[in-house]
Amino acid sequence: MLGKISFAAKEIDVAEWKGDILAVGVIEKDMAKDENSKFRNSVLKKLDGLLGGLLAEASSEEDFTGKAGQSTVLRLPGLGSKRVGLIGLGKSASSPASFRGLGEAVAAAAKNVHADSVAVVLASSEGLSNESKLIAASAIASGMVLGIHEDKRYKSESKKPQLKSVDILGLGTGPESEKKLKYAEDVSSAIIFGRELVNSPANVLTPAALAAEASKIASLYSDVLSANILTAEQCKELKMGSYLGVAAASANPPHFIHLCYKPPNGSIKSKLALVGKGLTFDSGGYNIKTGSGCSIDIMKTDMGGSAAVLGAAKALGEIKPPGVEVHFIVASCENMISGTGMRPGDIITASNGKTIEVNNTDAEGRLTLADALVYACNQGVDKVVDLATLTGACIVALGPSIAGVFTPSDDLAKEVFGASEVSGEKFWRMPLEESYWESMKSGVADMVNTGGRQGGAITAALFLKQACHSLYILLPALYTLLTHFVDEKVQWMHIDLAGPVWNDKKRVATGFGIATLVEWVLKNSS
Ligand code: BES
Ligand code: MN
Ligand code: ZN
Repeated sequence: MLGKISFAAKEIDVAEWKGDILAVGVIEKDMAKDENSKFRNSVLKKLDGLLGGLLAEASSEEDFTGKAGQSTVLRLPGLGSKRVGLIGLGKSASSPASFRGLGEAVAAAAKNVHADSVAVVLASSEGLSNESKLIAASAIASGMVLGIHEDKRYKSESKKPQLKSVDILGLGTGPESEKKLKYAEDVSSAIIFGRELVNSPANVLTPAALAAEASKIASLYSDVLSANILTAEQCKELKMGSYLGVAAASANPPHFIHLCYKPPNGSIKSKLALVGKGLTFDSGGYNIKTGSGCSIDIMKTDMGGSAAVLGAAKALGEIKPPGVEVHFIVASCENMISGTGMRPGDIITASNGKTIEVNNTDAEGRLTLADALVYACNQGVDKVVDLATLTGACIVALGPSIAGVFTPSDDLAKEVFGASEVSGEKFWRMPLEESYWESMKSGVADMVNTGGRQGGAITAALFLKQACHSLYILLPALYTLLTHFVDEKVQWMHIDLAGPVWNDKKRVATGFGIATLVEWVLKNSS
């Protein structure tokens, strides 16, 4: 659980602050000295004066130049604060991402010295507009919350992090600033919730357990969220043959999760759906994952898309934005091997009536998403975004920290990329090259579920695109009438986040996607 840190925005003088670490964010320019080797920057100059020149001396001895990633914590007498920390921000600092990095660096410093109380200040904040100050303050706060967090639930010894209070100095005070800080805390605790879901091993986080977590969120925010969990039986009635095919081998039954957010009052301007891949484990099935690089050992992370979706639900339950309805949909199951499981070559039928020849049981995510997307489109939404740890090919294309974005809609792309600028999460738009659909044709069914190795992230996205046209099949009489209408009306985006959900170096989840999704939903609220 969260060792709650309390944040406060203050306008007091750095010299007066009392506590364990006074952390100063500096850009390279701030380190410039005058002809007497004194700091030109007013904040550093004041601190250095109180410290009898030790700050200038120590920082130059340590070669601290303010480069991004540099940081030093000095224990010096003469101030109300026990220590002064200098954190490098590079040539300039303006993006939320750079301030989040500052927060993370301060969190690391606080952990190192077991600090109880920390203050953060920017050496040169005078140049910033009030709006930029608020953005900086909230990004610093989220960096700190996320940097302090460690998932100790599965360690036999667990010490709570010690940090209790963080003062953010000189970046504004008052109701606007409190609102921004509250938002940062809401999103950060949703990210921590998402990380914990992904970190949870598959023997603990079964589809039933994931559904229980979703229901818990809905009841925590029952004024705005409702939950509907469908059993395998109910999914069968809805003819979700594609999803149930994937679930068929597992002793842990599938759970189809549907949460719905409705604002506390007022009219609804837009209706959205967030669909997440929720494979609590992906063994590959009969096309079992073998060989080095197959990553079977981290396939508990194959529900990273659903963690993003449920994390967003938690944050939105707390924030309660007006004018927007949001559906959160996860077809959760496990891809295992047994006598009841799907065989390579089996033909299954999705809930939109399309038949699929399963030429590879390891391309299971798209099979579960097909039925989840059909269900989402039937909720009468204007926009659908799905998030999935869908392909290793996307990691090959973009590396471990950038998610692939696939959408025919330039407008939707603009919205989501706008949201990502605020969140600092990295996305890259990829082509939906229709001619590659050629490789997905089956001799006997409507399609196969995998093309070749080439362009694997793209063919996977093209497969999902099929599902989005469900309404034509469900209402055959209106097919011709609706074809155009629906095509233009439901905007769809697929996000392949196979790389960025997991931090391979630290072997922990990142909580990727949540911050961007929440921003995007707020953009669609009134
Ligand atoms: N869950 C995997 C994708 C994945 C791979 C995520 C590595 C994270 C790390 C997905 O279900 C899968 O197995 N995809 C196959 C598709 C192939 C069979 C067409 C892949 O990428 O190899
Ligand atoms: Mn797979
Ligand atoms: Zn998978």
